[in-house]
Amino acid sequence: MNNLIEKIDKKLEEYMVIKYPESIFKSMKYTVTLPGKRLRPVMCLEACRVLGGDIEKAMPTACAIEMLHAQSLIHDDLPCMDNDDFRRGKPSNHKVFGEAIAVLAGDALLSFAPQTIIEKSQLPAQTVVKVLHEFVSAAGAHQLIGGQVVDIESEGGKYGGKYGGKYSEKHLENPKETLKFIHTNKTAVLFKLALKTGAIIAGATQEQIDEMEEFGQKYGLAFQIYDDIMDEIATFEELGKTIGKDKEVGKLTYVTLYGLENAKIKVHELAKDIHKITDKYNSEIFNSIIDKMVAKIER
Ligand code: IPE
Ligand code: IPE
Ligand code: MG
Ligand code: MG
Ligand code: MG
Repeated sequence: MNNLIEKIDKKLEEYMVIKYPESIFKSMKYTVTLPGKRLRPVMCLEACRVLGGDIEKAMPTACAIEMLHAQSLIHDDLPCMDNDDFRRGKPSNHKVFGEAIAVLAGDALLSFAPQTIIEKSQLPAQTVVKVLHEFVSAAGAHQLIGGQVVDIESEGGKYGGKYGGKYSEKHLENPKETLKFIHTNKTAVLFKLALKTGAIIAGATQEQIDEMEEFGQKYGLAFQIYDDIMDEIATFEELGKTIGKDKEVGKLTYVTLYGLENAKIKVHELAKDIHKITDKYNSEIFNSIIDKMVAKIER
C-alpha cells in the first residue's frame, strides 16, 4: 500500500506543474499534494489490478480522482461552507491563498482533472469516453455537488443553520432519507467513481463493474459514518482537521440522528457486507482499507 501511495504522490507531483499565474497553480498543488490518505486513487488502482488490468494505465484517472477529491475539500472548507481552518494537518487552502484564489483553485481542479485523463491516459478512445462519463457525472450537481447542497441546507435543524431553517424544514421531514442522500452523494460517489473506473480500465464485465459500484456505495456510507464518529472522538493531531465542528453547527450526521453507539454498530455491519464482496479478491489493500477504518472507531 505504501508503495502504491508513493507512486501516486510521484505522479501527482509530475502533473501539478506551476505556471503563470503562479498563485492559482500553487494553490491547486497545495491541497492536492498535502499528505491525505489517498484512499480513492489507491482503490482505483487496486480495482484495476484485481480485475486483471495494468495499474499504469489507470494512474492518470486515479490521480484525477484525487484532484477532484481535493477540489471538494478546498470548497468544503471555505467560510461559506464548513468554515474550517485546517486540512490535512495544515492551514486550509483559503487560509493560505485567500478565498478568491481558493474558489478558483477548486474550479480549476474540476477542469484540470478530466484534462489530465484525456491528455495522459494511454487507453482506447472508447474507454476514455466511458471513464470521463463516470467522472463528470460524479462531480456535478447530480451527485457530489447535490450531496454538498443538501448537507449545507440541512445544517442547524429546523430553525437554525446558514439559511435559518428555510430549506432544512423540507429536508428534515424525512431525516433518515435525507442523511442517506447526503452520504451517498457527497461521499460514496468518489469511492464508486474510483472503483468503477478502475474496473472499466481493466476491461471488466458489467457484472464486475456493478459489484465495484456496490462496494463503493457501502464503503462510502461506512466511511462518512466513520468520519462523523471521528469528528466526535478523535483528536486534531490524529485527523489533521478541526474536530467537534459537526455538533457545533448542527450538521445532520449518523451520530446526531442515531447516536454514537449505533453509528459504530452500523460501520461494523457495513464492513461485514463489504467483506462479502471483496474477500474473493484476497486483496491486502482492500482488507487494510476496510479494517483500518473499523479499528479506528474502537478505542
Ligand atoms: C475527507 O476524506 C472527506 C470525507 C469524505 C469525509 P478523507 O478522510 O479521505 O480525506 P484525506 O484525503 O485523507 O485528507
Ligand atoms: C466531506 O464531508 C464531504 C466532501 C468534502 C465532499 P465533511 O464536511 O464531513 O468532510 P470533512 O470532515 O470536512 O473532511
Ligand atoms: Mg462538509
Ligand atoms: Mg467539512
Ligand atoms: Mg467530517
